[in-house]
Amino acid sequence: VITGSVITADESRAEVDNALCTTRAIRRRLDLDRSVDHTLIHEALTVAAQAPSGGASEPVRWLVVTDAATRLAVGRTYREAYMELDQSRAAPSGESAGQVTRVRDSSRYLAEVMGRVPVQVVVCTTEAAPICSTGPEAAKFYGSVYPATWSFQVALRTRGLGSCLTTIGLRRQDLIAEVLGIPAGWTQCALLPVAHIVGSDLSAARRRPLEQVVTWV
Ligand SMILES: Cc1cc2nc3c(=O)[nH]c(=O)nc-3n(C[C@H](O)[C@H](O)[C@H](O)COP(=O)(O)O)c2cc1C
Repeated sequence: VITGSVITADESRAEVDNALCTTRAIRRRLDLDRSVDHTLIHEALTVAAQAPSGGASEPVRWLVVTDAATRLAVGRTYREAYMELDQSRAAPSGESAGQVTRVRDSSRYLAEVMGRVPVQVVVCTTEAAPICSTGPEAAKFYGSVYPATWSFQVALRTRGLGSCLTTIGLRRQDLIAEVLGIPAGWTQCALLPVAHIVGSDLSAARRRPLEQVVTWV
């Protein structure tokens, strides 16, 4: 009950669906000039801690980077990793070229400003990455990290904060580990820029039609 009104099951479902459908990869709309109250990050991490993990092992560790010099160092490393990738990949072609170009432009922008976002969150796991990249071990390893990461992003979203899951920086994960003093044996899985979102109009994205991706057996 909130101020005398009752939230119905339909309203509650609509709110959850809306949060899930409008948690976008926010890059250009990260507000670089507005600081983020640490309480909001703490609340979102509390929500994320409820995510599932294989064997209830809870291996996720979060490094919340707010120190300006450290953010700059992480940002510089991320940009180098991005430039290395960008120079090595072919120009987009075919039907999806326009969409790929848009995502790349947006990703390049993020690489330029990563050091200026008010908060960076590095998501780690205490486990070593599996030697075999397929099969149940790999599934358990990554599947124990990304649900919590997504929960964190959705919880940020409902608090007016934007984020973007990035993995390109993992090309330079040793340097990032050195900057942040990440314990040996932990594995980095993502770097998230976090900031207030400029504007409030976020909508659901266009995705492949369900008929293309769902098989009922
Ligand atoms: C596993 C994974 C890795 C990603 N890595 C990066 C990255 O390194 N840099 C980046 O700018 N975006 C990265 N993204 C964000 C995707 O580009 C984004 O989720 C996708 O374009 C869909 O965005 P939308 O939900 O706003 O439509 C990554 C997303 C996922 C799920």
